[in-house]
Amino acid sequence: MSQSLIKVGVVGAGIGRHHLAAYRALPHAVEIVALCDVNEARLNEIGTMYNVPRYFTDYNELFASGEIEAVSVCLPNSLHAPVSIAALEAGLHVLCEKPLAESLASSYKIAEAVARAPGKFMICFNRRYRLDVQWMKQVLRQGLLGRVYQVKAGWVRETGIPGWGGWFLNKTIAGGGPLIDLGVHMLDAVLWLLDYPAPLTVSGVVEANFGPRQAKTWQAPLTPVPYTVEDSATAFIRLAGDVTLSLETSWASHAKPGMDDFFITLMGTEGSIELYVANYATENTLTFYTEIGGKPVVTRPAVKISRSDHEYAITEFVRCIREDSVPTATVDQGLTLMKIIEAIYQSAEAKREVILTQDG
Ligand SMILES: NC(=O)c1ccc[n+]([C@@H]2O[C@H](COP(=O)([O-])OP(=O)(O)OC[C@H]3O[C@@H](n4cnc5c(N)ncnc54)[C@H](O)[C@@H]3O)[C@@H](O)[C@H]2O)c1
Repeated sequence: MSQSLIKVGVVGAGIGRHHLAAYRALPHAVEIVALCDVNEARLNEIGTMYNVPRYFTDYNELFASGEIEAVSVCLPNSLHAPVSIAALEAGLHVLCEKPLAESLASSYKIAEAVARAPGKFMICFNRRYRLDVQWMKQVLRQGLLGRVYQVKAGWVRETGIPGWGGWFLNKTIAGGGPLIDLGVHMLDAVLWLLDYPAPLTVSGVVEANFGPRQAKTWQAPLTPVPYTVEDSATAFIRLAGDVTLSLETSWASHAKPGMDDFFITLMGTEGSIELYVANYATENTLTFYTEIGGKPVVTRPAVKISRSDHEYAITEFVRCIREDSVPTATVDQGLTLMKIIEAIYQSAEAKREVILTQDG
């Protein structure tokens, strides 16, 4: 186990700034060496904010520089594959933002590169590291829910179409709307809680009711741009082990003003857990329902979150590099989620259920 500082770089200075903050919180393990972004104003602003010594506008130059051992890929979804593959081929350890890629085809290309490369590869599925989600996992491990037979999960915003005019609204770059953006977090958290059962069938519906009329966006449109993704999606997924999952995601809806809430309810034969996170709440998010002596018992576990999700995820990435262990958020899990997401889009298009086979 090497005790020298791991030299890291970050590509993309949007959410990449959360990666910088999380690396900075590990000064005994990590040295932040470089930041890369094609937007030089952003590069300078964020680089200065986090005191980053080296700036790059071309990720290939950064990877060839020999100055870093690990990189966070924090770029628009369609760049996850080319940039992660280039980093892996340069011998780097890679932490790639979610989703794995904008499409299943690109996801397979990453998986092939991961299989060939010596470096670690981890996907930043940061929600699963939240302490309340970790607590749910502990309860499941202890068998306190009995057999989980039904899961309800979702992420619903009232006004939350992101980055008006940006890549999030472009199906070719993003791969989709709230389903691939927010839904992928909830799908990952649920499947991780259940030890990643295989998805068997998928039925989905997508809608675009607000985006096309430029309503309920975070930023007012500067110039009208085509809106080619959904703004809400619902799905019903059968998982191996006789579990059903109903999923709801939206960037925009007539709902409680300002709502930006995510939730997971696990229904079990001996107990149920409800996680409800209103506007990124960090406490009072859990309720546990069971019966004792034939009477219903309701418990509110005192779980309080004091670090950002990215800090937890990046701590895991750094630990895996230092200990030479396999990150828990694997490329195979990312592939499984992309199979589900693509099947939801296919099902919505065909207006019927899609059957997923074990191999694809
Ligand atoms: N895990 C989370 O909680 C979370 C939150 C937000 C975003 N994300 C993910 O992070 C990724 C980035 O999203 P974002 O919100 O930061 O987007 P963003 O548009 O705010 O930032 C992307 C940055 O990449 C830069 N960029 C674009 N092309 C580049 C290139 N070829 N080389 C170098 N830099 C380039 C842009 O200039 C921009 O600064 C997405 O995949 C998104 O899904 C994850």
